[in-house]
Amino acid sequence: MSRRIQVLPDSLTNQIAAGEVVERPASVVKELIENSLDAAATRITVSIANGGRTEIRVADDGCGMNRDDALLSLDRHATSKIVSIDDLRAIRSFGFRGEALPSIASVSRLTLETAESGDVGTRVRVTAGKILGVEDCARQRGTTVSVRNLFVNVPARAKFLRSAAVETRAVTDVVIALALSNLTTAFSLSSNGRLLLELPATPDLVSRIASLWGDDVASRLIPISHTAPGISVAGLVERPDASLTGPRRVHLFVRGRPFRDRELVWAAERAYRTTVPHGARPSLLLYLQVGEGDVDVNVHPSKAEVRFRDRSQVEQSVESAVRGALGRVDSAATLDRYPAPPQLLRSTPRPDAAADGGITSQLAFFVPASEPTPPASAGDGEPRPDADGVPGGETAPPLPTTRPLLWQIHDSYILAATRSGLLIIDQHSAHERVLFEALMRAFDEGGQPSQRLLFPLTLRFSPGEYAAVEANRELLERAGFEIEPFGGRTVIVHAAPTPHPYFDAERCLREVLTDLASGSELTRAAHNQFERLAMTFACKAAIKAGQPLGPAELELLFERLFATELPYHDVHGRPTVIRLSLHELERRFGRHG
Ligand SMILES: Nc1ncnc2c1ncn2[C@@H]1O[C@H](COP(=O)(O)OP(=O)(O)OP(=O)(O)O)[C@@H](O)[C@H]1O
Ligand SMILES: [Mg+2]
Repeated sequence: MSRRIQVLPDSLTNQIAAGEVVERPASVVKELIENSLDAAATRITVSIANGGRTEIRVADDGCGMNRDDALLSLDRHATSKIVSIDDLRAIRSFGFRGEALPSIASVSRLTLETAESGDVGTRVRVTAGKILGVEDCARQRGTTVSVRNLFVNVPARAKFLRSAAVETRAVTDVVIALALSNLTTAFSLSSNGRLLLELPATPDLVSRIASLWGDDVASRLIPISHTAPGISVAGLVERPDASLTGPRRVHLFVRGRPFRDRELVWAAERAYRTTVPHGARPSLLLYLQVGEGDVDVNVHPSKAEVRFRDRSQVEQSVESAVRGALGRVDSAATLDRYPAPPQLLRSTPRPDAAADGGITSQLAFFVPASEPTPPASAGDGEPRPDADGVPGGETAPPLPTTRPLLWQIHDSYILAATRSGLLIIDQHSAHERVLFEALMRAFDEGGQPSQRLLFPLTLRFSPGEYAAVEANRELLERAGFEIEPFGGRTVIVHAAPTPHPYFDAERCLREVLTDLASGSELTRAAHNQFERLAMTFACKAAIKAGQPLGPAELELLFERLFATELPYHDVHGRPTVIRLSLHELERRFGRHG
């Protein structure tokens, strides 16, 4: 009886594996660089020709291989990186399958030159999976793999390759991703003899970013950090005010490996809510550390995705890390040419790195030295009757004894001298943030205080506005508007909130309803009905530009602003504060630097 089932020859299984591992030149570059990193290279030189189609060369100064290992490395499932399944759980190397080299060799002309030390090494030449020759060669410690004529024997694959420019871009992206997670290795990339990237080894992420994309990009990013049991998240994310221009860059790493994960990106984006306008796409560089066994890296053929044991914890940690950073002063818009002095931004993506790179010390001004609470939590969390807004009634607990000097200009902006420079506060935006957070808190706690009107207002609305009254009646009530339908499209307003003494309840209510009825840009940015109403209310009820404020009112607004979670951003994604550092003033007046 003849058998129908047969075991495939190695040459064929390698080609099949190559179908998954080697999709395009960029995948070859990724596998070769990862091997170099696993070999502890301190310098990796990549060169490609014609988008990698005609040649890819990756040279390193890593541990190299002796002749036996060099030959074995081209066999399928030959790896030096794991011996048991337990090793895979705790994997620290990029490689573990023993598939990359034989797969690449099966679809190209590959030359491997390698030496463990000194002058003599081994050269192995392979074409379409067949070893054509093994010989001695002169070389230094390390390994160079050149891959020519990729897909020479798989024309169907070759057809899927895009233009040289597109493939070069994909190769560049791969080098960038690995360079962002291996700072102490120097990288270079050239294409057709032209140098595209030259990245010296560095201990810190910001200087690597500066070598990749320039100082300007580096200065738009702020450090993030969050640690919870079993997980830490560090990295850099874009300042909200900077996220509206320039290309977006997103890089995720877990235990040093680049990976893709749309939902984690969304988690980070959720943290930006109310600080950026609808549709803004901030750059994100997130470095996750989780325990061994809490992430499975063996779930995707080219290792582009991973699986977390506790996904929701990871998402929450990412969100908290980003949210925390957006409440700090370095997330504020700035007039400085290089926003934070370099030492504030230097932070390596390690969980044990200082949490905020010294940013808290900048804030010390707002809190007396004896007071341990940071300003972001200086509020007591209670909505305060008649003191949600600028002036009026009982004020909050005594704040800093050392208050900054406040000065209102053009009846619209407040200048505040701080220890490290100057803050320019937009009184309307600042009050908007204060009212938004107060109302969101009030929604949780039953409602916002209101005042009965001596003369109730009788208001008639358009059909759209009236529909908005009906749809939001309960929320409006919790916001302090006591509304009674009066037949037709008329209502009587018996009570209204009192965010400040210059408040015009009728005008505010009408504007809120117009916005809710028409679905403004602002209401689209909201994540739910509470946010929608709180944003609209805050925007319409906040103190206006052009309103003169007395010293006590300025102080109260200042104090309220810095008791919010995100004092530096209004709910439209505009800044509430623009800062100018003493450092920058000194620079501009030629005092130094
Ligand atoms: N640049 C290099 N320097 C030193 N040794 C190398 C280098 N490249 C490959 N090797 C050796 O060859 C072996 C096979 O490499 P290959 O990339 O095929 O598999 P791997 O890295 O073990 O696993 P994976 O298929 O997951 O990448 C490696 O385990 C390593 O021992
Ligand atoms: Mg490998």
